[in-house]
Amino acid sequence: MMEAHWRVDGHTVPNTAVYPWQWLWDSCFHSLIWAELGRDDRAITELASALSDQAADGFVPHVRYVGRPGFLEDFWGRPGTSSITQPPMFGHAIAELGRRGTAVPEELVDRAHRGLDFLLHDRARTDDGLVTVVHPWETGCDDSPRWDDWCGPTGWSAERWRAVKGELLTTVVRSTHGSPLANPAFAVAPAGFNALVAFNAAELGRAADAAELARALATRWDGERRTWTDGAHPSGRVRTVDALLPVLVCPDGRPAALADIGDDRAFGGRCGPPAVHRAEPGFDPTRYWRGPAWPQLTYLLRKAGAPVGDRLVAGAQASGLAEYWHPDTGEGYGAIPQSWAGLALLVTAR
Ligand code: GLC
Repeated sequence: MMEAHWRVDGHTVPNTAVYPWQWLWDSCFHSLIWAELGRDDRAITELASALSDQAADGFVPHVRYVGRPGFLEDFWGRPGTSSITQPPMFGHAIAELGRRGTAVPEELVDRAHRGLDFLLHDRARTDDGLVTVVHPWETGCDDSPRWDDWCGPTGWSAERWRAVKGELLTTVVRSTHGSPLANPAFAVAPAGFNALVAFNAAELGRAADAAELARALATRWDGERRTWTDGAHPSGRVRTVDALLPVLVCPDGRPAALADIGDDRAFGGRCGPPAVHRAEPGFDPTRYWRGPAWPQLTYLLRKAGAPVGDRLVAGAQASGLAEYWHPDTGEGYGAIPQSWAGLALLVTAR
């Protein structure tokens, strides 16, 4: 699959038909898969290409439309790439390559630091010091019920949400160079995204930055609902698996979150944790971001100490390496095969 998805400019597409471009956090995970395969230096090549369109202020776009000049330029207002970002998983990728003894070029490490600096310094911060995203797509969790409040009184439907996502792009506030700084219509500091910023900061050796974010995240732990929250809006309290990512960096809440990941009435699942808590009214184990298990999130929760490696492997196998799958049966959904399902290699080999 990885060979079939490799593109000569130096990146792996998530899927040849559904996702024929380069996505930022996908590429960071692909880099780990190439490292595990260990045949050549594509782990470094992929990371370098993912960071190659970084702006002077550190902003890293989340999609690169390699080989299609002008594609979607009107939509994004930027040539060749999107104009929003995704979780900065390059910190973890660089640290992991280092731990495996791969020399990571200084320039890449420098780009990773500048990417993180952009989020920590140039992004609007909330009162509690957390980093805001400018659009739900930045979290990588596109249709999560966490964003349902933005659908208005009619509630969530795939169609309504598609329209709202389009509208939310029009209110992004940009720097003079076009980098996305804030969005008054979507001023959200998601627990999951902030946990990944903190985790990647820690991976790059920035313990103080990571600790500061972890302290701020601690105030977002809701012991009654057993989840970290995104803020005061009601859907920011819906129990989703991405909202448990603070287990990577926060001691508070950790025992409860890990217990729920292993509990079949909560986030348990033979093929990985469902994206949404099973008791949530909207839980649907077949629907994009509203219940299936996602390999990259299962991989991250395992990094945080949840014993879900076997579940990731079971789901990757049963689904035929799908983009996401049913948390119980492993039936594959979305794009099949999808490169990041290859993360299952990392939990078996080590
Ligand atoms: C979907 C996912 C996003 C991912 C992209 C490419 O949009 O929600 O997280 O990066 O597909 O795989």
